[in-house]
Amino acid sequence: MLQGKAILLGVSGGIAAYKSAELARLFVREGCSVQVIMTRAAKKFISPLTMHGLTGRPVFSSLFNDSYRTATAHIQLAREPDLVIVAPATANILGKIRAGIADDLLSTVLTAVELGKCPVILAPSMNTTMLENPAVKENIRVLEERGFFIADPGKGDLACGETGKGRMVEPFELLEMARKILIGGKDYQNVTVLISAGPTREALDPVRFITNHSSGKMGYALARAARERGANVILVSGPTALEPPAGVIFLPVVSAEEMYAVMLDRLQEADVVIKAAAVADYRPVEVSRQKIKKAGEMQLKLVRNPDILKEIAKKKTKQFLVGFAAETENLLENAARKMEEKNLDMIVANDLGEEGAGFQVDTNIVRLLYRGGVVEEVPLMTKLRLSHLILDRIKERWKFQDR
Ligand code: PMT
Repeated sequence: MLQGKAILLGVSGGIAAYKSAELARLFVREGCSVQVIMTRAAKKFISPLTMHGLTGRPVFSSLFNDSYRTATAHIQLAREPDLVIVAPATANILGKIRAGIADDLLSTVLTAVELGKCPVILAPSMNTTMLENPAVKENIRVLEERGFFIADPGKGDLACGETGKGRMVEPFELLEMARKILIGGKDYQNVTVLISAGPTREALDPVRFITNHSSGKMGYALARAARERGANVILVSGPTALEPPAGVIFLPVVSAEEMYAVMLDRLQEADVVIKAAAVADYRPVEVSRQKIKKAGEMQLKLVRNPDILKEIAKKKTKQFLVGFAAETENLLENAARKMEEKNLDMIVANDLGEEGAGFQVDTNIVRLLYRGGVVEEVPLMTKLRLSHLILDRIKERWKFQDR
């Protein structure tokens, strides 16, 4: 689908520069022409020869080069691409772009790109403290407001030996983002998507609670994908360790009852509701005000939590309703029953027994069930890619133009 697209890949000087080689390869494999510009620092991390070999084009680096046929090569380089991507984008290049500083080839070309005509993806990558630096944070926020696409960095082990946020988004995810921007575009503009994510916590006493293994990754990926496609996203989330995607309305909750109240409160604003949260079906009848002391055997009395989706289905007006089903047996039968009982338009069924599916992992394997008994098998893919697929399917089944 990206066949024939011209990509300008800017590489600035960070450890993640090695990933940009893979990114170049992925674009070339899609049939794109890839022109690489490297900063002086980037060349310390990865050889221009590698990039030349992968793209079949010489790498540009200097503002002045005898091989340029014109004195205004920077303007030509800024006009040719269909998409510019800077990966990794260091704190330095982000600061320069924001301030309009043009003191080397990459920053000069970026200053000359017309954002309205050519989208630019920036993939920040740096140490967590640098990323949290108020100046860097502000630069990223301002750039996003100006219309740059920010590939929000992930959490994990960093090159400096610390652990935290700052890892560059993986090349295949950047490719997916590019695909959505160039092909999918902003097809969810003016659509409000209400998403629930993560687990709920049902308190027993001030220190203990009942919960489940949901990490929130599936729901957050959906929020990110919908946002990338221009939707207004309201993300209602139980407690997770994740950063909410930039640009979404983020409403944190703790218990199922809180999630119920917030979801119903925002329901009428929504066009599409996707419930990826793993809601606790039961909560303790009583919450002890003091820490419960050990005393032999203990019986726990539980009461049913409200079924949020069922209530939403009763109160819905125009909304397209998507539920999730996490099952350990009889996946299709149980998912189909839930779709019927909860009056859903679509249900995403994941089998918790399958490796690479369900809780905690970055991938999923699902079956999509639609009204009328249609089932679509979806193989292993990242939760972000799956999220885009789910949004594609919603779009096909729920005619935006009929709203
Ligand atoms: O968060 P991750 O680690 O990425 O894991 C993703 C996931 C496995 C949690 C997700 O993909 C998923 O399957 N979520 C739904 C899990 C679940 O609780 O399924 P369920 O079969 O209990 O509920 C069916 C549907 O009803 C769900 O959409 C659920 O949000 C909703 N529900 C359930 C109970 C309740 N009281 N109210 C509800 O609205």
